[in-house]
Amino acid sequence: MQDASPKAWSGRFSEPVADLVKRYTASVFFDKRLAEFDIQGSLAHAQMLNKVGVLSTDDLNAITGGMTTILTAIREGRFEWLLDLEDVHMNIEKRLTDLIGDAGKRLHTGRSRNDQVATDIRLWLRHEIDGLLLLVQDLQGALLDLAESNAETVMPGFTHMQVAQPITFGHHLLAYVEMLARDAERLRDVRRRVNRLPLGSAALAGTSYPIDREFVARQLGFDEVCYNSLDAVSDRDFAIEFTAAAALIMTHMSRLSEELIIWMTPRFGFIDMADRYCTGSSIMPQKKNPDVPELVRGKTGRVNGHLMALLTLMKGQPLAYNKDNQEDKEPLFDTVDTLTATLRIVADMMRGVVVKPEAMRRAVKQGYATATDLADYLVKKGLAFRDAHEAVAQAVRYAGEQKKDLAELSLVELGTFSPLIGQDVFAVLTPEGSLASRDHIGGTAPNQVRAAIARARARIAEA
Ligand code: ARG
Repeated sequence: MQDASPKAWSGRFSEPVADLVKRYTASVFFDKRLAEFDIQGSLAHAQMLNKVGVLSTDDLNAITGGMTTILTAIREGRFEWLLDLEDVHMNIEKRLTDLIGDAGKRLHTGRSRNDQVATDIRLWLRHEIDGLLLLVQDLQGALLDLAESNAETVMPGFTHMQVAQPITFGHHLLAYVEMLARDAERLRDVRRRVNRLPLGSAALAGTSYPIDREFVARQLGFDEVCYNSLDAVSDRDFAIEFTAAAALIMTHMSRLSEELIIWMTPRFGFIDMADRYCTGSSIMPQKKNPDVPELVRGKTGRVNGHLMALLTLMKGQPLAYNKDNQEDKEPLFDTVDTLTATLRIVADMMRGVVVKPEAMRRAVKQGYATATDLADYLVKKGLAFRDAHEAVAQAVRYAGEQKKDLAELSLVELGTFSPLIGQDVFAVLTPEGSLASRDHIGGTAPNQVRAAIARARARIAEA
């Protein structure tokens, strides 16, 4: 018969299970990343407790000294993080108490880990957003430099991936500068809602101590306090918004990457990419693979996934704090890491782009990119647009048969498609003529591209 005594059973099962649960519920191995912000928050809280007379000045001084020692140990990688202490908050608090005794135990007066962690994430995210804004600006700078040296470089603009009309490479790059300008706006907007103080909400209902939340908010550089304690400890909408903004930036980076990949295939040959951004093939010696832009495209899926994870994390939670929220950190951390690395690498990659203007020009010619210009020319001479469209379609077909560009047809040949065509037609049939005619704000004429670059630079300097 089997021995079914409780002792034997617990001897076999309870320890391993407890250990598994401990690992399952602990967050210290990832939330230790919040340590510096946790200490900042604790110091502001302690100063406030002292100010309102809940904590003695001796205690406050002991806490300040202990936290300095802990911060140094963390920065130097000497701090011992313990799984048994569950999370960053308990690890730091326990160490503080070991160092300074009872004063350390008084720090948590009028506070809960619920409002503590919400404060930490907001402080951390605010810091990261500020860093990301600088990286967005740097990438815009790299794109603007490349646009400036290509303000007149003719390339085909595409719709449906078919050659449509001539544009300049500079104009094309400026489209991404605009996307990034909106991305920066979104980050700044999210930052306003991140920058509010949850501390003081305690576990969920507030606290009976005579706290001064405005003082803590000022100490920590928050614009204002969160106005409902239940909401403050439980909602992570600011993290979701941030991740949505990050997913959009990644989407823009992914589109740019897709274009770089297409442009550098030998079929297009519009650009060459610095060797440090490419890899070879172990079997095909001729290959130069655009691994970096491909990975940017791939990593976009990862950030989109984090956005979905956070939305799903939130949707079923009743008020107020639930442990589900501990799962906000890894997606958020990885979003910031992925986005930071991506913005850095794309900026450097754009600085290594070598433009091949001849290949771009050749593609403009092969694609009859000035056909619309010829139609517009006929309209300006009095023909209805639909009739002009038809006449030009015939001319394009004929030029195709002759294996010539429209500008290479003679005046006699062109005259067979419309008697309105005169010598002045050649001015609009060249890519330069076509570009110069699109001379309005937002258009591709080289002087407009230069003006747009100046505007973008001024906007960035102001931000
Ligand atoms: N590690 C926790 C988190 O990230 C801290 C808050 C824990 N609060 C609690 N009541 N168990 O959310």
